[in-house]
Amino acid sequence: MGEKDSKKWVLMATARSPTNIAVIKYWGKRDETLILPVNGSISVTLDPSHLSATTTVAVSPSFDRDRMWLNGKEILLSGGRFQSCLREIRRRAEDVEDEERGICIKREDWEGLHVHIASFNNFPTAAGLASSAAGFACLVFALAKLMNVKEETTELSSIARQGSGSACRSLYGGFVKWAMGNKEDGSDSIAVQLANETHWEDLVILIAVVCSRQKETSSTTGMRESVETSSLLQYRSQVVVPRRLIQMEEAIQKRDFPSFAKLTCADSNQFHAVCLDTSPPIFYMNDTSHRHVQLCFLVYCICLFIRLLDYRNFQDRWNQFEGTPQVTYTYDAGPNAVLIAPNRKVAHLLLQRMLFYFPPPSEKELDSYVLGDTSILQEAG
Ligand code: ADP
Ligand code: DP6
Ligand code: CO
Repeated sequence: MGEKDSKKWVLMATARSPTNIAVIKYWGKRDETLILPVNGSISVTLDPSHLSATTTVAVSPSFDRDRMWLNGKEILLSGGRFQSCLREIRRRAEDVEDEERGICIKREDWEGLHVHIASFNNFPTAAGLASSAAGFACLVFALAKLMNVKEETTELSSIARQGSGSACRSLYGGFVKWAMGNKEDGSDSIAVQLANETHWEDLVILIAVVCSRQKETSSTTGMRESVETSSLLQYRSQVVVPRRLIQMEEAIQKRDFPSFAKLTCADSNQFHAVCLDTSPPIFYMNDTSHRHVQLCFLVYCICLFIRLLDYRNFQDRWNQFEGTPQVTYTYDAGPNAVLIAPNRKVAHLLLQRMLFYFPPPSEKELDSYVLGDTSILQEAG
């Protein structure tokens, strides 16, 4: 085993994974351990240079147990999800050799070796921007790299699913569908890429961080309570979502923004209605989120007005554009808005309106926050 016996070496691997935002939402499990959903879902994976998790995994004979740090703070790995991912990757580990350093790990050695994991998110964690999706996709990918796992992306995606359901979609770029499947062992509950990242390049996605604090009800707890108490969820998963999945897939293939937009905001609205239909009710959106929704409709009206001015055939255009939003929105389990525009021109208009209604704080205001904070610290001190 070469240098391995000296207990001094550390072998590392690093990966970065993007988050993904569902346009047809996953909410509810039929199997909590394997993480099998009550309905299929469709998402768009964001560019990793914006919202992503970066994870480094290290192995050394001097490590006496598996440990993990998230954003610099140690977290417990006792939860079944981390263990499931670790177990599934370890099972598939292969021989690893670092000739230069004289390190050679045989596949049977991995069972006796421990890992240290350090992960950072460059966006708010547990705030409804799918940190668990980026996080578990990244963890599985980094572990697979470290342990020389040779599996295809489909297999890694299924392992990531057992960490967090939404993570199975983050292994692919572009538009991704997670099929609910119906087998008990979950072998047909897999994610597939519907279209790659170049398919619909005009789309612009804006993320408005309303609150970066950790949410009070995690997605896992929230959806468990919805499954137990919401009759709307039963109707949604059995009747509404199967139809929407077909319509959404078609809208994406055809790059049909009006249909895409309508389905996206309708599905977000229904997901939050399910949260309200849960007992006790769960409130993920807040007043600012509601104002962002109103803003989308305002921008839609402005777009409509501009288009009407552009065309002489007033009546025809009116019929064509009535009820077809020019921007859309979706909210995951949190208050932060994901706004989607069909192109840069509309995105600029939306951004302009956003900055008008939600201006960034002035220098003076920032100063007063800082002073306010200091005085609180002084009082506390
Ligand atoms: P979110 O809406 O951000 O996905 P969730 O409630 O679904 O919120 O999940 C938050 C949990 O996901 C965290 O408490 C943590 O356990 C896990 N998580 C978040 N980021 C990472 C990461 N980078 N690596 C591993 N796990 C992560
Ligand atoms: C609202 O994947 O975070 O973001 O499987 O329990 O980890 P667990 O839940 P998670 O749920 C995501 C819910 C959602 C919608 C979605 O991403 O499809
Ligand atoms: Co999540």
